[in-house]
Formats: sequence, C-alpha cells, structure tokens
Amino acid sequence: MGIAARYAEGARVSADGVGQDGHGLATRLSHAGRAGSKAHGFVNLPLHRGSTVLYENMAQRRDFMRRRFEQALTYGLNGSATHHALEDVVAEVEGGTRCQIVGTGLAACTTPLLAYLGAGDHCLVPDSVYGPVRSFCDTMLRRLGVATTYYAPEATQDEVAGLIRAETKVLYLESPGSHSFEVQDVPALSRVAHARGVAVLMDNTWGIAAFQPFAHGVDVSIQALTKYAVGHSDVLLGSITTREDAHWKLVRDAALVLGQYASPDDCWLTLRGMRTMAVRLERQMASGLEVARWFAGRPEVARVLHPALPGAPGHELWKRDFSGAASLFGVVFRPEVSVAGTHRLVDALQLFGIGASWGGYESLALPTNGIITRTAGGGEAGAMVRFHIGLEDPADLIADLEAGFGVLNEAQ
Ligand SMILES: Cc1ncc(COP(=O)(O)O)c(C=O)c1O
Repeated sequence: MGIAARYAEGARVSADGVGQDGHGLATRLSHAGRAGSKAHGFVNLPLHRGSTVLYENMAQRRDFMRRRFEQALTYGLNGSATHHALEDVVAEVEGGTRCQIVGTGLAACTTPLLAYLGAGDHCLVPDSVYGPVRSFCDTMLRRLGVATTYYAPEATQDEVAGLIRAETKVLYLESPGSHSFEVQDVPALSRVAHARGVAVLMDNTWGIAAFQPFAHGVDVSIQALTKYAVGHSDVLLGSITTREDAHWKLVRDAALVLGQYASPDDCWLTLRGMRTMAVRLERQMASGLEVARWFAGRPEVARVLHPALPGAPGHELWKRDFSGAASLFGVVFRPEVSVAGTHRLVDALQLFGIGASWGGYESLALPTNGIITRTAGGGEAGAMVRFHIGLEDPADLIADLEAGFGVLNEAQ
C-alpha cells in the first residue's frame, strides 16, 4: 500500500505508526521540535522562561497578536518556544495537527471536557475511567449542569448508540482502562459518535506511540505526559492533541480562558525525556510482557490483565489496533488469596515501589481493590495488584516477585 493511502482523514501518522515522511517513531522523536536557528547551533533548544514578551514596535505587536493562535509569542501564558517545541513533538507522535500543553495529565482530561460541554449537555464516560476524571464529572460538571452516563467500557457500538441523546456532546474513551485494562473498540465507537455529531475524546496515555488515535477516528487525544513521555517520575505534565483545527480552536480557547499553563522547565525536561522514549518503550514493553507471562504461570494467579497477552481480555482488539504495549498491567489473584495476603506480598518486594503513577524507569506495585471505579456489575472478584515494569533487569524483578510469593504463601 502507498504511504498516502494508509492515512485516515486528518491523521498524520498511519495506524501502524509511520509518519507521512515514511519515518518510524524513533526517527521522528529524534528530529521533531528541534527548532533550527532558534537553538543557535546547539542540538537542543534553549530553555525559554518568561512572562513579558517585548515587541520591536507596534506593527510587530499587531502582527503577533493576530497570530497568537499560531504559536506567535505574545505573552508567557500563550507559550514559549520551549512549549511549542514540545507541542510539535507530541503532535508528531500522536499524528495530530496541533497540541496544547497543560500542567498535569488530569488537566489534559478536564480541559477538553470543559471545552466541549455546557449547561444542559450530556457526556458518555467509561465506567472504568481514571478515578479523578469521574470525580470531576460527578462534582464540577454536575454543578455546571452537565449530566454524565457511565457506560461499560466493553459496550458495543449499538449499546453506545442507544445511550446517545440529543444533548450528548462528548463520547469519552480510555483504552485500555488504566486499572482494569478493558480495550475499547475505538473505530466502531467513534463512527457511532460521529454519525450523531458527538465529539470523541480519548485518554491515550497507555497507548502513547502504540495506538494512533486519529487513524482510529478520535477527535481529541489526551496524554498524561507524566508517564512514559517524562519517563523519570520527576515531572507532571499533560497534552491535548487534536485531529483538525476546528477541534484545536475549541481546546486552545478553553485552555487560555482557564489560564492553563505549564512550567517551561517541565516542558524542557519532558522534551528531553521524549528523545529516548522509543527505546524505553520497547524495552519496557518486552520486560512487561516477560513478567506478565511469568505471573500467568503462577498457581496463585487467576488472570493477568495485559491486553498484549494472548487470551487476556481485549487481546483481539489490541492485536487489531495497537502496534505495541505499555508496561502497566493488572494481576487478579485466585479467590483463596486474600487482599491482606497481596498486601504482604507487596510489602515483601525489594525492587518495586508502592505507589501511584507509572511510565517511569522504576517498577511499581499497587494493590487496586477499592481504587477501581467500576459500578455497573463489572470488575474482578479476587484481590488485584497493578504492576508497572520499569527498566530493571526482568530476571531480577522475577526473582524479587518469587521471594514475595514465598512470603504470601508462608502466611496464607
Ligand atoms: C490514565 C491516566 N490519565 C490521566 C492521569 C493523570 O495524570 P497526572 O498524574 O499527570 O495528573 C493518570 C495518572 O495516573 C492516568 O493514569
């Protein structure tokens, strides 16, 4: 197939992750956002900090103000060359036209919801959604007169079509769910939404670089850059990337009126993180799968929720739509293993931190019973632990886990 034929309308990267210049992810990550002459000969762009921007004269001010939606530098809030370079790299990775950087991944979820929804509107949100987004819908959006319906993340296109009302403005997706790992049929759900004039917003943090949102019908892609883009667990940042300019203007307007801003230092660190993201993702995917397969062979484990594992929930959709996988997955224990037992296991681990977040270079373990937000009859019966696999040697991680299972079994 010719390169041009592989691109969905408005998508700059094909479903299998190739840019319109024919380059793969690692090449594009090395070359995007390098800003040529603004770097004064250095490989990397200098860090631009600042609030006030000085103009040479009034004619230049008028020109810059007219182009303030086009990355012209008018005031710190509108972004600096550092912000814009990062926006260009993220748009390049996700294959969108434009990107807006905001201060956290959560702000990247809430800002587009505010951009698209107003009093009297309705939105559809998966029941498995990242918890703080659910809190936002149940508090702020409700107070503003926006109704939310939580749908089962495995819902078919007909089931979702049945939930769309005249007032529905947004179909929100998070695939896979970041605690329960359901994979959504994004192309089918997007088609249903578009047929009814509903915008499709997706949290694509797990699929960063492995799922091309715009090639699969999404209008607005959300990233918690905090995870794999930053990669070192030292910065919080979010991005909102759009398929076309009409969506970008809505998102950009909302971000500006809300005063959304991110520190240029954090943007610079994230830009630096992204230069090595392709190799980290490749290594973490391989290690994640190795550890996930090991878990699947343990007698104490009922199921491993890793979409890239054959037989796991959502595997067929993953195989159809993704070109890779994150190193974040869930382990469901057999009913005879108690929640307290899994806590003892986690306490015994030496190489896994106990903590939220993911995408850094270090491995993490987080018991998730009580954290998962599903209400509608979904969810797992057994104790669950979510694992994030970092850049350590997988054999060392497995040896640590073996020892942890020893402690679990001693005390059972
Ligand atoms: C799926 C998902 N989306 C969004 C966020 C929010 O990101 P941040 O921690 O940068 O606010 C998280 C954080 O854990 C997440 O897991």
